[in-house]
Amino acid sequence: MQKLKGFRDFFPEEMAERTHVFDAMRRVAKRYGFVEYDGPPLESLELYRKKSGDEIVAQLYTFKDKGGRDVALRPEMTPTLARMVATRANSLQKPIRWFSIPQLFRYERNQRGRLREHFQLNVDIIGAREVEADAELLAIGLDVQRELGLTKEDVVARVNDRRIVSGALGLLEVSEESIAATYTAIDKFRKVPDETFTELLSDAGVSDDAIEEIRKLCAGSVSVFEWFAPRLDDVDEPTRKAVADLETYLARMTEAGFEDFVEVDFSIVRGLAYYTGIVFELYDRKGKERAICGGGRYDDLVQSLGGPDLSALGFGMGDVVLSLMLRDRGLMPKAPPRSDVVVIPVGAELAVIARLITTELRRAGKRAETPYSPAGVGKDLKATGQRGIPYAVIVGPEEWAAHEVNLKDLRTGKQSRVAIDALAAEIKT
Ligand code: HAM
Repeated sequence: MQKLKGFRDFFPEEMAERTHVFDAMRRVAKRYGFVEYDGPPLESLELYRKKSGDEIVAQLYTFKDKGGRDVALRPEMTPTLARMVATRANSLQKPIRWFSIPQLFRYERNQRGRLREHFQLNVDIIGAREVEADAELLAIGLDVQRELGLTKEDVVARVNDRRIVSGALGLLEVSEESIAATYTAIDKFRKVPDETFTELLSDAGVSDDAIEEIRKLCAGSVSVFEWFAPRLDDVDEPTRKAVADLETYLARMTEAGFEDFVEVDFSIVRGLAYYTGIVFELYDRKGKERAICGGGRYDDLVQSLGGPDLSALGFGMGDVVLSLMLRDRGLMPKAPPRSDVVVIPVGAELAVIARLITTELRRAGKRAETPYSPAGVGKDLKATGQRGIPYAVIVGPEEWAAHEVNLKDLRTGKQSRVAIDALAAEIKT
């Protein structure tokens, strides 16, 4: 039997890598005071129809359950989070600062860095309007990169604000009917050839002059701040605020020591429908991989699910691209954790003693094992060494009579007699 395309088996080596990545994610999220939550892997189809973008809805794993309900495997966590928060919004202390590492399912086309299941660290803040929350959110995403050994040479954070894009499109007189297709085109700026980009905008009904301005902004040949400076009197209040917020945001990122990671990029608009303010994506600096992480502000989602008017922001960071990068740079653990020590009896009569010593070592917190069928000291020692286990304890009749054992350090080959009471302390891990 073959496994399904786009799904992974986690053999112990891969599981060790997964644990390594999840542990780093958990450590960082907790360091910022976030608490962990989870939700159901199956939700009503309706939730995603209403709340995720068309792209995600087209990728849903969906079926009718035995009660005839239309259900879907979760393709993202944000609708579940918003639903959960909406049901208890009044009793939860704000700001809510939660994280989760759900497994998600999307029927994606086969491509590097995109599978049909993935795990995604979700970090979200609910009930904070301040731009300081946006800055803290991005800092968490970047701190996870640092925690795993990646640096500013490896990762770039591209940041933008949807209100700024909307303000610019207003100034460029892009009509209401063209807006959605224009966003889609901007989102594709770095993913398609230049001619395709022009075509997409022109098909959307954008004028040639406006296409030129949008291209300059996306390419960064003019910065968002330079572009808006002479036009600030002509834009509405939300756009002016967005430009000021983006400046504060960058200052906060500098304050937190992340300035070298962050770049303003007008082409970051995010594919999902619910974002309303500052948005960002993390990318491999080498440009080889797809996005590592994406998120931003979604101030209307909780209310639209029947909750109170609560501002919200968050990100999702997948394990697939991140793992590719860590492997590429030799930053993944080489092997799963193994025992610290194997207890080997000399002769079958001492097997019971070896088992008792193993039990004692486990009680003392050591990772200890003893062969189910001892094969003789020579063979058992060899097998222990081959598995990279650092210590062997050899239980011989003479030593045991004196309540002692031989402790062998298999890395140095050094062997010494140790009193049974002192054994655990001699096994240094
Ligand atoms: P997203 O951009 O769809 O956002 O996904 C976020 C990240 O999840 C991507 O940058 C990528 O690393 C990973 N990812 C997505 N799809 C796949 C896939 N098929 N295979 C492997 N990795 C994948 C969201 O899902 C938002 N709900 C994030 C969010 C949380 N926004 C606010 N809070």
